[in-house]
Amino acid sequence: MELMKLILLPLFCMCFHGHCAGTAYPHKSKCTIGNTKVDCSHMNLDAVPTDLPQNITTLDVSHNRLKNLSSLHLYSNLMNIDASYNSLTVIEEDLCLSLPHLQSLNMQHNEVHLISEKDLKNCFNLIRLDLSDNRLKLKGEPFSVLKSLTWLDVSRNTLKSAKLGTQPQLPNLVTLVLSGNEISVLQKNDFSFLSNSSAFRVLILSSLSLKKVENGCFQTIARLSDLVLDYSKISLQFIPSLCEELAGTALRNLSLKNTQQVTLSNTTFQGLDKTNITVLDLSSNSMTKIGDGTFQWFPRLESLSLEHNSLKQLTKDTFLGLGNLRQLNLQKALIKSHSSSLPVIEDFSFHHLVQLEHLCMANTAFREITEHIFSGLLHLKTLDLSWSITGLKTVTNTTFASLQESPQLQTLNLTAMGINKLAPRAFSSLGNLTTLLLSHNFINQQLKGDELEGLSNIKEIDMSLNQQSISLTNTSFIHVPTLRTLKLGRALKGTLDMEPSPFRPLVNLTILDLSNNNIANINAGLLKGLYHLKVLKMQHNNLARLWKTANPGGPVLFLKDATKLSVLNLDYNGLDEIPLNALRGFFELQELSLRGNLLDQLHASVFDDLQTLKYLHLQKNLITSVQRVTFGVPLSNLTDLYMDHNPFDCTCESILWFSEWLNSTNVSVPGFPQSYMCNTPNAYFNRSVMDFDPLSCKDMTPFKALYILSSTAVLMLLFTAFLLHFQGWRIQFFWSIMVNRMLGSLKDESITEGRYAYDAYIIHSAEDRPWVERSLLPLEDEKFNFFLEDRDAVPGFSQLDTIVENMGQSRKIIFVITEMLLKDPWCRRFKAHHALHQGTNPSFPSETLLSTNFYQQGQLEFFFFI
Ligand SMILES: *[C@@H]1O[C@H](CO)[C@@H](O)[C@H](O)[C@H]1NC(C)=O
Ligand SMILES: *[C@@H]1O[C@H](CO)[C@@H](O)[C@H](O)[C@H]1NC(C)=O
Ligand SMILES: *[C@@H]1O[C@H](CO)[C@@H](O)[C@H](O)[C@H]1NC(C)=O
Ligand SMILES: *[C@@H]1O[C@H](CO)[C@@H](O)[C@H](O)[C@H]1NC(C)=O
Ligand SMILES: *[C@@H]1O[C@H](CO)[C@@H](O)[C@H](O)[C@H]1NC(C)=O
Ligand SMILES: *[C@@H]1O[C@H](CO)[C@@H](O)[C@H](O)[C@H]1NC(C)=O
Ligand SMILES: *[C@@H]1O[C@H](CO)[C@@H](O)[C@H](O)[C@H]1NC(C)=O
Ligand SMILES: *[C@@H]1O[C@H](CO)[C@@H](O)[C@H](O)[C@H]1NC(C)=O
Ligand SMILES: *[C@@H]1O[C@H](CO)[C@@H](O)[C@H](O)[C@H]1NC(C)=O
Ligand SMILES: *[C@@H]1O[C@H](CO)[C@@H](O)[C@H](O)[C@H]1NC(C)=O
Ligand SMILES: *[C@@H]1O[C@H](CO)[C@@H](O)[C@H](O)[C@H]1NC(C)=O
Repeated sequence: MELMKLILLPLFCMCFHGHCAGTAYPHKSKCTIGNTKVDCSHMNLDAVPTDLPQNITTLDVSHNRLKNLSSLHLYSNLMNIDASYNSLTVIEEDLCLSLPHLQSLNMQHNEVHLISEKDLKNCFNLIRLDLSDNRLKLKGEPFSVLKSLTWLDVSRNTLKSAKLGTQPQLPNLVTLVLSGNEISVLQKNDFSFLSNSSAFRVLILSSLSLKKVENGCFQTIARLSDLVLDYSKISLQFIPSLCEELAGTALRNLSLKNTQQVTLSNTTFQGLDKTNITVLDLSSNSMTKIGDGTFQWFPRLESLSLEHNSLKQLTKDTFLGLGNLRQLNLQKALIKSHSSSLPVIEDFSFHHLVQLEHLCMANTAFREITEHIFSGLLHLKTLDLSWSITGLKTVTNTTFASLQESPQLQTLNLTAMGINKLAPRAFSSLGNLTTLLLSHNFINQQLKGDELEGLSNIKEIDMSLNQQSISLTNTSFIHVPTLRTLKLGRALKGTLDMEPSPFRPLVNLTILDLSNNNIANINAGLLKGLYHLKVLKMQHNNLARLWKTANPGGPVLFLKDATKLSVLNLDYNGLDEIPLNALRGFFELQELSLRGNLLDQLHASVFDDLQTLKYLHLQKNLITSVQRVTFGVPLSNLTDLYMDHNPFDCTCESILWFSEWLNSTNVSVPGFPQSYMCNTPNAYFNRSVMDFDPLSCKDMTPFKALYILSSTAVLMLLFTAFLLHFQGWRIQFFWSIMVNRMLGSLKDESITEGRYAYDAYIIHSAEDRPWVERSLLPLEDEKFNFFLEDRDAVPGFSQLDTIVENMGQSRKIIFVITEMLLKDPWCRRFKAHHALHQGTNPSFPSETLLSTNFYQQGQLEFFFFI
C-alpha cells in the first residue's frame, strides 16, 4: 500500500497541474531534428531548449511543462510553433517581436487567462491562431491587431458570448471556431466585429447549447457559406428562427449532425428557400420521422445526408421539392429495432428526385423491394443496396423492373443482400448497366447463361464470396461478351475442366479472379482466346499437379493465350515445379506472385521473358539458391522484391550472386535482412544472408582451375587403364603391325627381290575355298603368285614342314579369317604341333614364335570376315 501511494502521488500532482501532460506517452530524451523542423514534444521540458539549430522554421514543444516561451527568441526564423498542452499563462508581449516570421501559433490546452491587445500587438503576420481549451478572458480588443489572421479557434474557453470585439477587425479572417463555449444566445451585434472581413466564410458553432438567435445577427456576415452546428443541443424552436435569420445569406453548406432533431416537419426549414443551400447534413440525429414536404424549402439542394438515423417510413412526398438533388445518402437511415417491424419505403418514394444520380442505401433495412419503389429516378447512375436487409431471396425479372425508368444506371451494388438465386433475365431491364456487384451473397445454382441476359453493356460482374456454391457451364457467360472484369473468388464449385471453357465468349476480358476455389482440374483451353487478359488471380487453388513434369500427357500450359498478362497471382497452390515454357512470351508481366508454394529448383531460363517485371513475390517457398542464370532477367528491372522466409543455402555457388545483388541494388526489399536467413551450411545456419562473406569465394578461382585440371588427369588415367586392360591386346597387335609395316617398307625391295618363290601364302578353311578361288586366284593371272596348301604342297613332305618352308618363301601371309577357319581342323592340328614343342620352350609357344618371326618380316596380312 505504501509503495502504491509513493507511485501514485507524483502522478496525481502532475495530472492536477499539467492536465496529465505527457503521462500517458513515453517521454523522449532528445528532440528529433529534421531539416528545418524540430520535434521536442513529450519531453517533460520546463523550458524551451537553447541548443537547437538557429535556422529552424517549425518547432513542436507540445506536451511538456513549459510556463513561458522565453528562449524562443533564439530562433528568429520560426514560422510555426506548436506549444499546445503546456502550462503557459500568457502570450508574451515580445514573442511576435522577436519572431517576425511567425505564421502559426498553437496554444491549445494551456492556461492563458487574461488576454489583451498588447499581448498580440506585434503579431500582424500571424495567419493561424489556436487558443482553444484555455480560460480566456478578453480585455479590450485583443484580436484587433491580427491583420493577417485567417483562422481563429477559441473553442472551449467558457466564453459566454460570440462577440470577440466591438470594432470591425480581422479583415482577412475566413474561419472562426467558437465550439464548446457557454454561448446560448446569438445576439444581434455578436458578429459585427466581422463586418469588415470580406473573406469570412466558415462559422463553426459545434457543441453549444443554443436556445435563441436574435433577429439580424447574421446580417453583418451575410457572406457566410458554411455553418456547422454539429453536436449542439438545439431546441425545437431554435431551428425555425435560425432558418429565418439565414435567409438572404450566401449559405451553401449547413451541417446539423447529431443535433437531436428527432422529427422534422414541413415548417422546420421554412425560410431556407431564400438561401442557395446545396449541401445539408442531417446525419446521426436519431430521427424517426420526416414529415411530408419537409424539404420543399431546398429547391437548390444537391446533396442530402440522412445517414445514421432511425426512420420508420419514407413516403411518396418525403422528398418533395428536392428536384435538384444529385446525391442522397440513406446509409443506415432506416433501421430495424428489435421491438418494431421492418421500416417501409412506399412505392414512388423517390419520384420527386428526377435529377438524382447517386442513391446510397447501404446498411438500410426495409420490408421489400416493391414494383415501383425506384420509379421516377430518371437520372440515376449508381444504386447501392449493399448490406441492406430487404428479405430479397430470388432476383426475378420483376425485382428491378422499376429501374427501367433509369436508363443511365451504371452501377448496381447488391453486395451482401442475402440473395440465393438469380432467375432468368433477372437484370434484363438494366441494359446500360456496367457494374453489377453480387459478392457476399448465398447464390447457389448452376449459371446457365440466361440469368445475365440483357446486360448488353456490362463491364464488371463481381460474384466473389458466394459460399463456393456457383457452378459454371460452357454457356454461363454467352450473353455478356462485353465483360472486362469477372470476379469469382471463393464462389465456385464443380469443375472447370470443360470444352469450350466457360470464359471462351469473354473476348475482351482483362481481369479474371478465380482465387480461393480449390480448383484442381482444368485443361489447357481454360483461357483460350483471352488475348486481352491483364490480371489473373488464381491464388489458393490446387494447381500443383498441372505443372508437374510427371503429369500424364505432360504439364498443362493453361496460360498459353494470356501472354498480355501484367499481374499473375498463383500464391498457395502447392506448386513445386514451373514448366520450362509456362512463362514463355510474358513480356508485359509486371507482377508475379508465387508465395507460399514449394518451389526450389527452377529451370535456368524459366523467367527469361519477364524483362518488365516490377514486383516479384516468392516468399515462403523452399528456394535454396538464387543464381544469375535463373534470376538475372527478372531481377534486372524490379521495384519490389519479396523473397523472405526461404531456406537459403549460403554457399558460394548458391548465394554469392544474390548476396552481392542485395548489397548493391536500389530495389526495395521489405524484410531484408532480418527475414532472409541462411538454412545451410551449418556455419551460416540462422544467420542473415547479409552476413554471407563474399570474400570467401574470391580466392576460389585458382583452386577451381586446379580442381578441374587434376580431376581431368585422374579421369584420363582411369580411362587409359581401362582401355589397356580390356583392349590392350588389340592395341599391341595393331602397334606391331604398324611397326612392321614401317620397317618392312624401309627395306630395299631389290635386296629381297629374288628371295621369295611366292608373293603370298594363303591360309583358309576348306569351306572358304570357293571364295579364295573366285576372289584371289584371278589375281595370279596378272602378276601375283600365291601358295595354296591344297594345290601347291609337294606330296610326301609333312604338312608342318610344308607350311614352315613355304611360308618362309612367301613375301606375305594371308589369313582368310572366318568363323569356319576358327573351327577348321587345321587350327586344331596347329595346336597339336604347339603341344609337340611345348616341352622345349614353355615360355614361347610355337605359334607365337612363328608369328613373331613373320611379323618381323612384315609378312602377315589378314582378311577378316566376321
Ligand atoms: C540550418 O543550419 C544547419 C547548421 O546549423 C545547416 O546544416 C542546415 O543546412 C541549415 N538549413 C537550412 C535550410 O538553411
Ligand atoms: C521561464 O520559465 C523558466 C522555468 O520555469 C524559469 O526558470 C524562467 O525564469 C522563466 N523566464 C521568465 C522570463 O519568466
Ligand atoms: C475595412 O477594410 C478596408 C479594406 O479592406 C479598410 O480600408 C477600412 O479601413 C476598414 N474599415 C474599418 C472600420 O476597419
Ligand atoms: C442564389 O443563386 C441565384 C442564382 O445563382 C442568385 O441570383 C441569388 O442571389 C442567390 N441567392 C442568395 C441568397 O445568395
Ligand atoms: C404542412 O402540413 C400540414 C398538414 O400536415 C398542412 O396543412 C400545411 O399546409 C403544410 N404546410 C406547408 C407549408 O406545406
Ligand atoms: C418474367 O418472366 C415470366 C416467366 O417467368 C414471364 O411470363 C414474364 O413475361 C416476364 N416478365 C418480363 C417483364 O420479362
Ligand atoms: C458496394 O458495396 C460494398 C459494401 O458496402 C462497398 O465496399 C463497395 O465500395 C461498393 N461498391 C461501389 C462501386 O459502390
Ligand atoms: C442506354 O443509354 C442511352 C443513352 O443514355 C439510351 O439512349 C438508351 O435507351 C439506354 N439503353 C437502355 C437499354 O436503357
Ligand atoms: C471488344 O473490344 C473492342 C475494342 O474495344 C470492341 O471493338 C469490341 O466490340 C469488343 N467486343 C465485345 C464483344 O464487346
Ligand atoms: C525496364 O522497364 C522499362 C519500362 O518500365 C523498359 O523501358 C526497359 O526496357 C526495361 N529494362 C530492361 C532491362 O528490360
Ligand atoms: C556489401 O558492400 C560493402 C561495401 O560495398 C562490402 O563491404 C560488404 O562486404 C558487402 N557485403 C556483401 C554481403 O556483399
